[in-house]
Amino acid sequence: MSLVTTLKKTGRKMSGALSGDKMAGADEGADVLDLLKEDHDEVKALLKKLVDGKTAAERKSLVKQIKAALVPHVRAEEKTVYDAIIALKDKQPKQDGEEGYLEHALADKTLTGLDKIANAMSPEFSAAAKVLKELVEHHVEEEETNVWSDVRKNFSDEERMEMGRKFQAAKKKVRVP
Ligand SMILES: [Fe+2]
Ligand SMILES: [Fe+2]
Repeated sequence: MSLVTTLKKTGRKMSGALSGDKMAGADEGADVLDLLKEDHDEVKALLKKLVDGKTAAERKSLVKQIKAALVPHVRAEEKTVYDAIIALKDKQPKQDGEEGYLEHALADKTLTGLDKIANAMSPEFSAAAKVLKELVEHHVEEEETNVWSDVRKNFSDEERMEMGRKFQAAKKKVRVP
């Protein structure tokens, strides 16, 4: 957990303690959006390193790290966040969720393709790495704007904490191919 999330958590606990809320003292986890943000920043940093990677060994190792971070994130996000907004009755959150699923499928495909390219210093690999980076950056930007606004509008702080718990549990169950 990042320092920022820990600080936010501590802040919430303290405000809970000050207001005399007994439940707030319990370890309630983190807002799902804070957890998503940590993953997004991690994956974006890894993708930047991949594109800038100067040796084949470094690039190969980065592909493994990206897979290990990205695959559990997207599967758990689909289950706990996208499915929740698709289940709402408004059309816009449903569409945002469906769009997210489609972009995840594109990222999966690009990542699988990247993993199959034997020569990590080839133009083919560099192209696939660049496409994956651009795809993820675009996706994350839209997600943090549209999907997160759907989540903030429709779910309370408590519900987002519950989503955070479900997200972390779902991530642990994902098997990285
Ligand atoms: Fe995400
Ligand atoms: Fe996503």
